[in-house]
Amino acid sequence: TTEPRTIRLRAPDNWHAHFRDGPMLDFLVPVFLDSGWRRRIVAEPNITPPVLTGDRAVWYRDAILERARAHDPATTVDPVMTIQITETTPGATVRDARSKGVGIGKVYPFMVTTHSGNGVQDYDKIYPALEAAQDCGLIVQFHGEHPSDDIEGLNKEAGFTAILDRIRARFPKLKLTMEHITSRAAVDWVKAQGDGVGASVTVHHLFTTVDDVLGYSKASGGLMRVHHGCKPQPKWRDDRAALNEVVLSGHPRFFYGGDDAAHLRRRKEAEGSACGVWNTMAALPLLVDLFDREGQLDRLDPFLSEHGARFYGYDLNAESVTLVEEPWVVPAEVEATGMGDSVVPMCAGETLKWRVRA
Ligand code: NCD
Ligand code: DOR
Ligand code: ZN
Ligand code: ZN
Repeated sequence: TTEPRTIRLRAPDNWHAHFRDGPMLDFLVPVFLDSGWRRRIVAEPNITPPVLTGDRAVWYRDAILERARAHDPATTVDPVMTIQITETTPGATVRDARSKGVGIGKVYPFMVTTHSGNGVQDYDKIYPALEAAQDCGLIVQFHGEHPSDDIEGLNKEAGFTAILDRIRARFPKLKLTMEHITSRAAVDWVKAQGDGVGASVTVHHLFTTVDDVLGYSKASGGLMRVHHGCKPQPKWRDDRAALNEVVLSGHPRFFYGGDDAAHLRRRKEAEGSACGVWNTMAALPLLVDLFDREGQLDRLDPFLSEHGARFYGYDLNAESVTLVEEPWVVPAEVEATGMGDSVVPMCAGETLKWRVRA
């Protein structure tokens, strides 16, 4: 018998993830660590109440770290602090947050996704915050979907580039990320910008299209698949191809941000289904398989742990994570302890080719 193949990665960073709060936070932190996410993880601020200040960001980072240390006293995880920027965020709040170690400001569009009722409708109103961000070196991440009802859902990302063009013209030195991009239009827009603009890409947008959500792919059995539903929704095959091409080409301004977005089953399997794909467990096995199949394994470390670190201004990680080429069955659901419910992971019940070594 031959030993299974192993691959050792530089410990990956994740430039966009949802840890939630309350019992969901207790539940999710160990899953991140056990799934190979043991270094920088950007902690999205859309909890209740949201993270709007440096002080709350420090509280949130410490809450995450406390749970990580309880699970693994030697943990190397590094929650990257964010604050949400809204139409009422003063420049002084941005400066104060930066002085407390917050690296990222996050901008949600109004009423497009989970807990975005305080999101932005008029982007001119965040200019004072963006001015301060540009001055003090806070990097701003945009959920890039246009909030206007006049722009239909699947066009909202392409439409958002017009907002970003205005912001770029006004704040040329502001460093910004277009998050979880899903379209060829976004890929082309980001490529056309300079060093100050990056993009994060999720694993689900590399693998799925709108047909997976709507249940048109044969694998869906003709049924809509709410657990594939997220914002921005996956687009057409050509868009997915553009994402795969740019990531597999090794472009240095595209990096991994999973948008790991757990929701309880009762919140997903409902009329009014919450947006988000819980990809934390399947992400690394799927990405290793993708880069391996395409003969680009040497570009996986750069995508997972180099491009983002360089963009955000960090040293490269010294730690590593090993995956083994052994069949691994993703659980059909995972009990959400203390919440009387479970969460359904990406690729639930499917057999993947690789697994993360503990
Ligand atoms: C979940 C919710 O609201 O039920 N969170 C969310 O959608 N952001 C789970 C939770 O954190 O309680
Ligand atoms: O699908 C999504 N889920 N998109 C977001 O922008 C937010 C996220 C969440 O918080 O669940
Ligand atoms: Zn988002
Ligand atoms: Zn998100």
